[in-house]
Amino acid sequence: MYRNLTPVKKQNMVGSHGTKNFYFHVDNPIYLLEPEYKECSLNSPEILAILGLRSNPMAITSLLAIEEVIKNLDKTTIDNLKKPIYTVRTPDSFDKKHEIKNIPILYSYGTEYFTRFDYHNTYSCKEEGIKALSNFKDAISMSKKIEICIDKGTMIIFKNQKILHARNEFTTNYDGYDRWLLRAYA
Ligand SMILES: [Fe+2]
Repeated sequence: MYRNLTPVKKQNMVGSHGTKNFYFHVDNPIYLLEPEYKECSLNSPEILAILGLRSNPMAITSLLAIEEVIKNLDKTTIDNLKKPIYTVRTPDSFDKKHEIKNIPILYSYGTEYFTRFDYHNTYSCKEEGIKALSNFKDAISMSKKIEICIDKGTMIIFKNQKILHARNEFTTNYDGYDRWLLRAYA
């Protein structure tokens, strides 16, 4: 599935069609993660590919491996992130708004970790969930990231549920020459 991504003039929009700070997240966080996959279920994409068709040098994409975040978390926080005490809402880019309740943010499978964290759309009403999300955000700020400007002809490919991504705020003119990306899921 391919999708064209260009800025859309819509007030306070945060997401793949916005220009405001789009903090760390995985795409399609409301769907099942790899260890949860079932036959005929709606699954979060395993692979995310983004191709630059027109660049904006002010727009920087950041990538952060979940393993780097885990290094900066204590065991209690990791255990609490695995509890089904979180709510995840669909991002602004979804036409239909809904939310999924009572799901975990983090899964471990063997030695691997998977996450459905979305800075803008992940919540908890439980005290340990609120604290764990706060610790997770602090760990993100401390963790080692890769930053890249997706130039024309540049393609990045990464594991969606294992690599969080973000994009800084940038300005655009909405004049037909705006940043233009092509996104594909697998
Ligand atoms: Fe995204």
